[in-house]
Amino acid sequence: MTVRAVITSCGAYLPEEIVTNRDLEKRVDTSDEWIVQRTGIRQRHIAGAHETTSFMAFKAAQDAMMAGGIDPHTIDAVLVCTSTPNHTFPSVAAELQAMLDIPPCAAFDLQAVCSGFVYGLSVADMMIRCGQAKRVLLVGAEKFSSILNWEDRTTCVLFGDGAGAVILDADQGGRGTLEDRGVLFSRLYADGRYKDILYVDGGPATTGSCGHVVMQGREVFKHAVTCMADIVSETLAANKLQPTDIDWLVPHQANIRIIESTAKKLGVPMAQVVVTVDRHGNTSAASIPLALNDAVKSGKIKQGDMLLIEALGAGLTWGAALVRF
Ligand code: UT7
Repeated sequence: MTVRAVITSCGAYLPEEIVTNRDLEKRVDTSDEWIVQRTGIRQRHIAGAHETTSFMAFKAAQDAMMAGGIDPHTIDAVLVCTSTPNHTFPSVAAELQAMLDIPPCAAFDLQAVCSGFVYGLSVADMMIRCGQAKRVLLVGAEKFSSILNWEDRTTCVLFGDGAGAVILDADQGGRGTLEDRGVLFSRLYADGRYKDILYVDGGPATTGSCGHVVMQGREVFKHAVTCMADIVSETLAANKLQPTDIDWLVPHQANIRIIESTAKKLGVPMAQVVVTVDRHGNTSAASIPLALNDAVKSGKIKQGDMLLIEALGAGLTWGAALVRF
């Protein structure tokens, strides 16, 4: 018998305000045409003052718990993937635990920027397989609008706010094969030599303020295309899978051109790729759980489907996971 971490429900929260590319044309020297052509983004949700990261995480978690009929008292670990916490400390996870009335258990934030959810999924899987937890609430939540320089057209048009959540349950019934439901494989990487191509120019131990996103977009793009191509190939090879074994590619939503390039390399048609970047923009650690929720609630992803999840973010960090939903 093999213990597996199975995703049993998911949820999401998107801020009320939608900002279109046309709206941004009024703020910076950009155009709807440029943004759509270069990124695939048409709109993004931007959080209001009351829509903090903890608030959005709470709403997404509530949605997931409602969807799964989950009693908060049965959750025994809370992980929040975020780079935009309400406070330097305590963690969003600890705040969320209190907001949801979850009894004392492990609760912590995990920071791997846009790869955050893949890192979080891998850690949650390990906690469950090691017997540390039986039911994990895993959330990706970001308020990137608060760390954007709204005068920098090279970054401010790319990001959005939101939160996505999943509940992972220990399932004792696995047989140790790829037919099992749950997280079947994950692989994480970082290469800190590239820390300067995407970073935030502030922090508690340097400027004492939270700073703004700075990015060498073209450099990040090149790495994203290469790293994602490599990691999807590695994931297939490590599990002796063919592209036809993958039902859905659920990629980090940064740029439609990166997504298309990865799908091509993987050999999966775009009809089997979950795309939300057009509506959400890049919501960093929230993008994959938001995309997953979208595809599950719209009936695309069904129980038993094989998902390949992948992301790259600042650090650089990157990773992939294979999940039978
Ligand atoms: O999620 C974490 C990981 N992040 C990513 O994966 C993002 C990766 N990078 C990208 O997605 C793309 O590099 C961008 C979308 C950021 C930029 O697209 P690009 O095709 O790489 O454009 P570029 O940076 O090479 O810029 C091309 C031109 C430049 O003008 P010149 O130098 O050719 O005259 C820019 O100044 O586009 C200009 N430009 C803009 N023009 C209109 C840059 N931003 C804008 C803008 N509106 N918002």
